[in-house]
Amino acid sequence: MFQRFRRTRLNKHLRSLVRETHVHVEDFIYPLFIRPGVEIKTEVSSMPGVFQMSIDEILKECVILKELGIYSILLFGIPDVKDSIGSDSLCEHGIIAASIREIKKHHPDMFIVTDLCFCEYTDHGHCGIIDEENETVHNDATLKISAQQAIVHAKAGADMIAPSGMMDGIIETLREALDAEGFENVPIMAYSTKFSSGYYGPFRDVAESTPSFGDRTSYQMDPANRREAISESLSDEAQGADILMVKPALAYLDIVREIKDATTLPMAVYNVSGEYAMLKLAGRNNLIDYDRVMMETMVAFKRAGADIIISYHAKEVAKLLQK
Ligand code: PBG
Ligand code: ZN
Repeated sequence: MFQRFRRTRLNKHLRSLVRETHVHVEDFIYPLFIRPGVEIKTEVSSMPGVFQMSIDEILKECVILKELGIYSILLFGIPDVKDSIGSDSLCEHGIIAASIREIKKHHPDMFIVTDLCFCEYTDHGHCGIIDEENETVHNDATLKISAQQAIVHAKAGADMIAPSGMMDGIIETLREALDAEGFENVPIMAYSTKFSSGYYGPFRDVAESTPSFGDRTSYQMDPANRREAISESLSDEAQGADILMVKPALAYLDIVREIKDATTLPMAVYNVSGEYAMLKLAGRNNLIDYDRVMMETMVAFKRAGADIIISYHAKEVAKLLQK
């Protein structure tokens, strides 16, 4: 027999030498949900281990994250007061701006990415301004206030901005707005290929962002579309995105690979709330070996082409990598 594949599998050290894909703690961005108040730390029932926290608790969380080697965070704000245009997100005293300033003050070494959208801030729960006539999100009106929101984030000290609303032309709009205000060195991580997905269910509990009517199919992508998924990301690249993203991750690894092969930009995957909840609950019920399945999933993201993994598992992964 000339070919014996098992030859390189027999020794542990040799297996390490020939391993093609590696997961590092530096690959991760950890999402955090911030709400007004003090000493608030509320676990989300559908996502064990994930909390809504007030700013003081977030500051403590940053200490823990850094001990684990996680320096990059993705912030979501949950304001107390919501309205039709998401005013809290457009105000420099709003929850997100205040949080960025506080984190930067106490943890200047953290890298703060902000999710830029309106669904957590609007009373109707959609990702922008509603066009009453067409009962959907008005694209170009939403672009205008998105530019405002980006400037609020940047002025507060955000290190990178990640627009997640799937509005056409968003990258170009934000790039121009940021440059005009002197923020030409603030990168944009585009939620470039974001599908309309049932896997966001638990997130909408934690972010309190379920649409009050209809759904997001008029702006997020149809899960059935592969060619369109590539076009979406390449369009964001052409508009000046610095990093592309596929979201959700696990059911879309084919899309990750295809975009990776079509771009030279770094790629992120968002390992979303429903994916996290599935592993968590299966693990808690002893249906799977949680740690093992989690690490296998992370390797799969990297193997498919992801450079960056946004994941609620990040802390647990970091702990395992430390062993
Ligand atoms: C908001 C937003 C969503 C997620 C990130 N930003 C949800 C949505 O589009 O409803 C999903 C994150 C997750 O499920 O973990 N635009
Ligand atoms: Zn949104």
